[in-house]
Amino acid sequence: MESTSSWLHQSFHGSWIFVLFLPLIIIIIIVLLVLRLLRLRVWCTCDICQSYIESRWAVQFPNLCDWYAHLLRNSPTRTIHIHVLNNTITANPDNVEYMLKTRFDNFPKGKPFSAILGDFLGRGIFNVDGDSWRFQRKMASLELGRVSIRAFAIEVVHQEIDRRLIPLMESVSGGEEVVDLQDVFRRFSFDCICRFSFGLDPKCLELSLPLSEFAVSFDLASKLSAERAMTASPLVWKIKRLLNIGSERELRRAIKIINMLAHEVIRQRRKFGFSDQKDLLSRFMSSISDDTYLRDIVISFLLAGRDTVASALTTFFWLVSRHPEVEAAILKEANAVIGPDETLTSHEQMRELHYLHASVYESMRLYPPIQFDSKFCSEDDVLPDGSFVKRGTRVTYHPYAMGRMEEIWGPDCSEFRPERWLREGVFWPESPFKYPVFQAGIRVCLGKEMALVELKSVAITLLRRYRVELAHPQPNPRFSPGLTATYRDGLRALIQPRQVIAS
Ligand code: HEM
Repeated sequence: MESTSSWLHQSFHGSWIFVLFLPLIIIIIIVLLVLRLLRLRVWCTCDICQSYIESRWAVQFPNLCDWYAHLLRNSPTRTIHIHVLNNTITANPDNVEYMLKTRFDNFPKGKPFSAILGDFLGRGIFNVDGDSWRFQRKMASLELGRVSIRAFAIEVVHQEIDRRLIPLMESVSGGEEVVDLQDVFRRFSFDCICRFSFGLDPKCLELSLPLSEFAVSFDLASKLSAERAMTASPLVWKIKRLLNIGSERELRRAIKIINMLAHEVIRQRRKFGFSDQKDLLSRFMSSISDDTYLRDIVISFLLAGRDTVASALTTFFWLVSRHPEVEAAILKEANAVIGPDETLTSHEQMRELHYLHASVYESMRLYPPIQFDSKFCSEDDVLPDGSFVKRGTRVTYHPYAMGRMEEIWGPDCSEFRPERWLREGVFWPESPFKYPVFQAGIRVCLGKEMALVELKSVAITLLRRYRVELAHPQPNPRFSPGLTATYRDGLRALIQPRQVIAS
């Protein structure tokens, strides 16, 4: 009763302040929006900007990234500028190398990006530039380079496959039940990355597919943070945050739950000791005493390593189920390297699976989990293709479009053909500036090796046991807007047991 009346009192008090200041707030919003829109040249009448503003591109293309790929293919420099967004977008490998390596310091993530993710990620590696980034990068590279943490990553992934993924698939295999593989892979990758970074098991992939409060809050916080980037002006979400209303109120609540859980894990770890623990958090705890900073670092890892892996697995299975010749080649290689009735036992065997490795690379070439990635130009600059970039411009490199460029991949660039990565049967890498799926240069992804182990382990285990039949085969995926490529309608499939099952 007391809490209800105090809530009523607070609400009443809050609404009075709100009513009193509402007209003033509305005027400020309008003035700021007008100023902002003027700066963004919303009046630009060029065909591309008009098509963007009126979403006319959607008539011809299933996704915004397909339209950008089309525009970039038709640009002689492979670079375009969307005036209304003050955004230069490039699919030119020379430009990519320039911004990610040669002039790295002139193309930081920048304040607009850190503001969008700031409440969720705090000062974590994913969201900072300068000294704070350098410090975390050095520390994280050191830790991730250790043999013991690599072994721990493999242990986590294999346990999750054996104890959860296979039992779940077994429970639906051969039946009429349609499973959403995207959902399964999201649960799988969340369990893995939480255990690896945090030493916390959210058990999302248990047979009953439970709802974990942590996973739900984490999803909501990622989604609402990404939506901030889609508002016409940052002022919209900043004012909503100031007033604590709508999506900003939800975001605050989700972050509160994440923080409570994270701080509880850190508190327990301090109390019961962390020196014998193998996870990343425990390793960082010996050199960092600020608990909020620790929380921020770990949350960045969760964001970086969760949806990316789930997205890569989803498109891999979508592509392979549409290309039986690739599936057959993967299985043939596995039988030759591992043995028809054997399971994968060593890292060495995994390294010999060149065709599998090539297939994973090829599927991310066509469907990179992070379709585009932006930086902000600090000082006026000129890209190698001659494009002038004014200070403050958002500059985006676009791996999705780059995977569809004839001059990089040849006339068959839109085909799914793992063989393009092989020379005499051995995997042959391309320049990372032509294939910036894991970014490239100085800030290249720190979890690349772990991600590849995870992707290949799941791929080979599932393909050798089951056939994936798509429930609604579609010629093109439709993606939801967000930080990572996500199928709008999931990936619904029937799971059939293979006749010859590797034990
Ligand atoms: C297929 C899976 C993955 C892909 C495609 C991928 C891709 C990327 C990309 C494009 C970036 C640059 C993002 C940016 O700066 O805006 C990045 C950064 C990063 N990734 Fe990954 N990633 C994957 C998996 C992982 C995993 C599993 C982990 C964790 C173990 C991880 C950890 C990180 C970290 C910590 C960064 C920030 C590096 C820095 O800013 O210095 N990633 N990743």
